Formats: sequence, structure tokens, C-alpha cells
Amino acid sequence: MCGIIGYIGMDQAAPILLSGLEKLEYRGYDSAGIAVHNETGIQIVKATGRLKVLYNLTQGGASILGNAGIGHTRWGTHGESTDVNAHPHFNKDTSIAVVHNGIIENYIKLKKQLEAHGYKFLSQTDTEVIVQMLDYYYNGYPLETITKIMHFIEGSYALGIIFKNHPGEIYAVCKDSSLIVGQGSRGNFIASDVPAILKYTREICYLDNEDIVRLTDSGLTFYHNEEELKKAFVTVRMDLNAAEKGSYAHFMLKEMQEQPKAIADTMNPRLRDGSIVIKELGISDNKIRQIQKIYIVACGSAYHTGVTAKYIFEGLAQIPLEVDLASEFRYRNPILDRNTLVIVVSQSGETADSLAALRKAKANGGRVLGIVNVVESSIAREADNVMYTWAGPEIAVATTKAYSAQLIALYLLALKFSQVRGFLDAEKIACMVSNLQRLPEQISLLLSHKKDIQKIAHRYLKAEHIFFIGRGIDYGIALEGSLKLKEITYVHSEAYAAGELKHGTISLIENGRLVVAVLTQPFLYSKTISNIVEVKSRGAFVMAVTNVGNTEVEKVADYVIYIPETNLYFVNSLAVIPLQLFGYYLSIGKGLDVDKPRNLAKSVTVE
Ligand code: AGP
Repeated sequence: MCGIIGYIGMDQAAPILLSGLEKLEYRGYDSAGIAVHNETGIQIVKATGRLKVLYNLTQGGASILGNAGIGHTRWGTHGESTDVNAHPHFNKDTSIAVVHNGIIENYIKLKKQLEAHGYKFLSQTDTEVIVQMLDYYYNGYPLETITKIMHFIEGSYALGIIFKNHPGEIYAVCKDSSLIVGQGSRGNFIASDVPAILKYTREICYLDNEDIVRLTDSGLTFYHNEEELKKAFVTVRMDLNAAEKGSYAHFMLKEMQEQPKAIADTMNPRLRDGSIVIKELGISDNKIRQIQKIYIVACGSAYHTGVTAKYIFEGLAQIPLEVDLASEFRYRNPILDRNTLVIVVSQSGETADSLAALRKAKANGGRVLGIVNVVESSIAREADNVMYTWAGPEIAVATTKAYSAQLIALYLLALKFSQVRGFLDAEKIACMVSNLQRLPEQISLLLSHKKDIQKIAHRYLKAEHIFFIGRGIDYGIALEGSLKLKEITYVHSEAYAAGELKHGTISLIENGRLVVAVLTQPFLYSKTISNIVEVKSRGAFVMAVTNVGNTEVEKVADYVIYIPETNLYFVNSLAVIPLQLFGYYLSIGKGLDVDKPRNLAKSVTVE
């Protein structure tokens, strides 16, 4: 996915665009560019590499004058990272410039049609088709021109557009790719996300699909099907500093440290005298009793919370629960009805596969609950009901605090379902709630041992393959630990259900191979210890993560990390902490950009 921004107002646009792009870099960072409208026409500067390349090229924006402009930071979907493929894209006479977040799925067909009309393309991107279509249909009226091309382009788009013949105006439109409009005291904005413009305005409007907006330095006009319409603005409460690194070396370290607060902020508003109140659930206790099946559908780490939650819902609420990758679910034919609850878990609320899965679930008759961290994001708005996690803005690509907050939301849901369905009484619930309330301080304790983890990580800076194993809930933890490692250290890693290792993958274990074994479930200790012995006998070095007191593991593992005691359904929240730290210290030990790993973006808004 990419980040786009636009500004028109009393001030010079370029510095504002660059400042906004800096807050959007987490969405993609392989190249960046800006287009500014001034009396010479449309001036475009764009370059491959991080935003600082563009910043230096434009002397922080000082070298490009003009009060209206658009900007873009890219996570490429079509064409590698080059100056030519960077946005903004423009037509032959640079009378139109466009920035785009999304995918034009029929761009090849449209490109061929335009080439047949003599158009020449400079880039390999799908986006260039948009600006050439605008050029082809341009009739002097931007609103009509934009509406026209919308009939032909298929796929997802959030567009910022400037027309040379329309100075003092910026246009924007979106479909299946979020875009906000900001109204400030010194000008107006479009942006992919709130942090990009928060220092200029808190008055935000969320564009709906196929809304078009015209921005001038003094006003905003919204259209839908070329009809003018009024849009509601909200005042954003987000803390300006929340999206800043502060004194931390990296966002990931800051966000790991914020996990205790993220968990408390997600949990506390939903606890009342030891019982659980989830007002936003939107379904009555009676309806909860009627739910026959739950699906949890998500991607990446959010999917891993579903793997963990499966054991918890089936254990505590005795309700069948199926976990599915959103990218798979969206292309299946899930058999759903109003007694099926589909929980879509997403930090960003903009993941294309998860949004598509939500739409599939609704189309197939299911009831959708979103568990989302970004307020008013697409998934939050399209779900039947939304249960927000209150982790605050998460900037590091590798999720930590949002993941932990998602787990808490799922624990609360499982306890609520269990109580309503008569499996847990108020006393047991109160006891488990007290376990939940201790998690923040226990996580803080684990985080205080980060130097120990750093030492063990530095022993593995040259590792090429690292395996994670676990059974039951521990498998969910192994999955998350492996993904954290892969995405920020680029080391190959696999997570395996410990019992499955001997069915093939154990052939990959050889002398010195690091295997991380997670064993937090006492009734499974002996089984996983057997797996540890199996890999040890093939030369592996084993780092075990287990409950305090389980000293038996020290007889077989080379290094043991103990986690504090908690309810066995909630151990994921603790066992994952050393694995997050391990990945973090391995990444920075290798000198990598832990907050912006290669090839990745914070939210994948394209499929
Ligand atoms: C997790 O560290 C990754 N960044 C990635 O797997 C992420 O969890 C996934 O893309 C889902 O994102 P979402 O929660 O915003 O939907």
C-alpha cells in the first residue's frame, strides 16, 4: 500500500507535503514524490529510495514554490522501485498529475486501449493508466472527467489529482481504498491516514466509496454521482505524540514498551466490578446463546490471534471456531447464516484481504464483528459491529502492542460468551478477570529483562534458519514469534506444531540449528519436551519459553526463558514478549531498519 497527501491553502505546499509523507512512510517507502501547482504549471520531483532522498532533492521543499500540491510514498505493486515508477504520475504535457493508493486491476486492458490511441507510457505502473485516462477524457471539467474514468477503471483507488488548467483546486476520489479530508485554519488536506495532517487539523471527514471532493484554499465541495452532498466532519482526539518515536531508538521498541498500557486501555473500559461488559458487541445475550459457530478471519499477526483464540473459545465457551486466512476465506464459499459470527481482526482496518473477507462474510449471510485498532477505518465502518482495541497509533511495521490488544479483546469476548452460555459463573469470571488485570505488570516485568534477550539474540546474528515449535495455544505463539523474526531480520524461519515436526521438517534440523520451543501448557509439557529431545539429538540448540517453576525443561533445553504465572488461556500475552524482543534485537544487531523492513508496509491495502 502507499501513502498519499494533498494540501491547498495559504502556506507553501511542498514542506507540508513532505512533513505529511514522513508520517505516512510506514505505509510504504520504496520511493516518494510531490507535485506542486504554481504559475509555471505543475512541478514534479520524485525519486526512488526513502523520503529523505526527496527531502534533500527539494531542500526540504524550499525549492518548489506553490500553495497547492499532492505527494506520495510508495510500496510498489507494479514495477520495481525506480524514479520513473515513483508517483506522482503525469500526462504527456504535464497538465495533469496523479497520486494513487490501490490497484487498477484492468490496467493492462486500458493501457492497450490508450496505446491504440497513440499514448506512450513511461512507467510499469498501473497508476499511469489513470492519468492517461484523465488526459484522454479531459473536457475542461475535472469533475466530469473524473466521473467518466470511474466508469472504466476496476479495482481500488484513492486518488489525489491536480489539473494545470485549474489552479487553486485539488481533486480526490476513493474506492475501496481509504482517504480522509482535513479542514484546517490555513488550508485543506487529503491524506491516507490521520497522523499525516494531525499537526495542522483535527477536523476530519472520511470519504465514502466513489465520493469526489474538490479542495480550494478556502473550501471543500463533495460530490457523489456528480451531485453535490454534505459530509460529516469529526474531531479527532488522537494524541499528537502518540505517533512520534520520542526518546526511543525505534517505534517497535516504543510500542513493545506500550503493551501494558495498550492492554489496560483495551480491557478496563470493558470491566465492571469483575464482570465483562462489551456494549459495542451489538448482540444480546440471547443472541450469543444462539451463535452456533464463530469464524476468525484475518491476515498475518492478526490471524495468529485467531489461532490462539480458537483454543480459548472452544475451551471456555465450547463453541466451534474456525480460523481462516482472509486471503483464502474471500475466495471460498463459507456456509454462514445469522447464527454464525465472523470476527474480522485487523490493526489497520484497511487490509484489502480482510476487508474483502468481511464483505464475503456479509454477502453469505454472516454477522460480522470487527476487532480494529484504527477508528473509523474501512473494516470498522463496514462491520455490523466493531470492538476497538485501544492500542493507539502503531507505526512499526511489525505489530506488537496492537497484537497484544487484539488478544485481550478476544479473551474478553471468550469470557463473555462463556459466561452467557453458562460455562463460567461470576466467581470464576472474576478470578480470570483478576488474572487479566495482572497482565500489564507481568509484561512490564518481562520487558525489563530485555538485555538478557539481547545477549541471546546476538549469539544468532549469523543464523540462517530458526524454527519455532509449540502445541495447542503454544503453536499460536510459535507462529507469531516466527513471523516477527522473519519480517524484521530477513532470517528464514518456520513455526511448526511440535507434534508435526517429525512428519518431515525435522530433516532440516542439523548441528547448531536454533529451535525455539514454547511450552506453557502443563498437560503438554512432556510431549513438547520429547520434541525438544528429538531436535537436540540432531544437533539443535534449543531456547525454551515456559512457565516459571517448570524447571524440568532445564534438563533438556540449552536456554530457558521463564514467564510469570497466569491463567493458562492467557499465557500467549506473556510468552510472546521474549519472542518479540528476540526478533527486535536480532534485527538491530544485524543493522537492519527494524521499523521499516524491506518489501513490507504497515497495512497491505492491495491484494
Ligand atoms: C505483523 O507484524 C505484520 N505487519 C502483518 O502480518 C500484519 O499483521 C498483517 O498485514 C495484518 O495487518 P492488519 O492487522 O492491519 O490487518
